[in-house]
Amino acid sequence: KNGSQLNGPSKQPETISFEAAGGLRQGFPKGFVFGTATSAYQVEGMADKDGRGPSIWDAFVKIPGIVANNATGGSVSGPVSPLQDGAGKVNWKGVAYYNRLIDYMIEKGITPYANLYHYDLPLALEKKYNGLLSHLTSVFKTFGDRVKNWMTFNEPRVVAALGYDNGFFAPGRCSKAFGNCTVGNSATEPYIAAHHLILSHAAAVQRYREKYQEKQKGRIGILLDFVYYEPLTGSKADKLAAQRARDFHVGWFIHPIVYGEYPKTMQTIVGSRLPKFTEEEVKMVKGSMDFVGINHYTTYYMYDPHQSKPKNLGYQQDWNAGFAYKKKGVEIGPRANSYWLYNVPWGMYKAVMYIKEHYGNPTIILSENGMDDPGNITRSQALQDTTRIGYYRAYLSQLKKAADDGANLAGYFAWSLLDNFEWRLGYTSRFGIVYVDYTNLKRYPKMSANWFKHLLERTSIKL
Ligand code: NOJ
Repeated sequence: KNGSQLNGPSKQPETISFEAAGGLRQGFPKGFVFGTATSAYQVEGMADKDGRGPSIWDAFVKIPGIVANNATGGSVSGPVSPLQDGAGKVNWKGVAYYNRLIDYMIEKGITPYANLYHYDLPLALEKKYNGLLSHLTSVFKTFGDRVKNWMTFNEPRVVAALGYDNGFFAPGRCSKAFGNCTVGNSATEPYIAAHHLILSHAAAVQRYREKYQEKQKGRIGILLDFVYYEPLTGSKADKLAAQRARDFHVGWFIHPIVYGEYPKTMQTIVGSRLPKFTEEEVKMVKGSMDFVGINHYTTYYMYDPHQSKPKNLGYQQDWNAGFAYKKKGVEIGPRANSYWLYNVPWGMYKAVMYIKEHYGNPTIILSENGMDDPGNITRSQALQDTTRIGYYRAYLSQLKKAADDGANLAGYFAWSLLDNFEWRLGYTSRFGIVYVDYTNLKRYPKMSANWFKHLLERTSIKL
């Protein structure tokens, strides 16, 4: 059938049982790593203690009404803190904290995977590109004897689109189309920010390769968020819309890193507002990853909205010129607490295979995956997280299938180890496999934590 009417999914989703997929750690490729993920601002707390300088998120969360219940990442007390005050001065207490953390992980048999930037740019560095570079260099020097897996940036698309287009994330800058923003721009900033993120990623990789990689024997990559986009119908228009969506999402970053240029669709739609790489920069950017981390949670159906191309309104508008998904309720699967998160396990398989097939079968680490519950459920409700177990079983089955079909998969990280500060949602969203009581910071493993334990320890799994 080749109709363009909105008549349901183009393909029936595939279901696959966890047991059929292997169901066990042993079913995954040799050397495959299982882990959990967190980020500094979301779990560490004590934002202004022990010499830690403020980040753009510390400034952003102070705007009244920005975060649910006006919560902040600093409002959980706990250990400290980033490496520098942002102006090039090393905060040795922060260094000592990360040294203790790394040593303790190693002592416990846990291999550290370190991402250098998770949305929380030191405020003082917001405009200092070189400062950022020296910050990264000192990190390799200080921790690289024990950290062998580096990632430069987490979700640069989110930083560029939410930070500089709709203003939803720090530093809260907006394109003109978002009238409620304090700072307007002519749909240029998201692309400029992304361009600088790509260049600084590549510069950091270059620095690591030149000065440290051989000696430290590590590898370095980047973390990209990737919502998978499936065409709503089998029509050519919808297929092209889904392709444009993938280009504007994951292609924005991985395309330059693998091929040295932005996806053609972006070049056409964004036109002169899309920065260009110089020949020198192409050399630096192309090939600047040893692996790619994919943060994957959900999938949307896409269709061609038949809109004409709006002019210079913003990234979101450039994007919507190519596709639409929300207007007609074409998201799929049962929903988690977060409004954007639908449970669509087969999207995991497709997302991984898409990266494999379009980007030269790179080493892929599935660097984030998980679902949230509302923040206000009782502790005993939160601990019985059978829905989350179902989510993990189904997604891991699809991941295993992708590995069986030749994807070069090297690891999987559940988001998150702990309930934590979920950005604009504050503490109203709980992603952890371990429950955190925010009144006293006590931690309680949920059923899903035990399920993972069994997955990793045993030869058979019973729920
Ligand atoms: C993406 C981000 O990297 C992380 O900070 C966030 O908490 C999770 N996904 C869940 O939304």
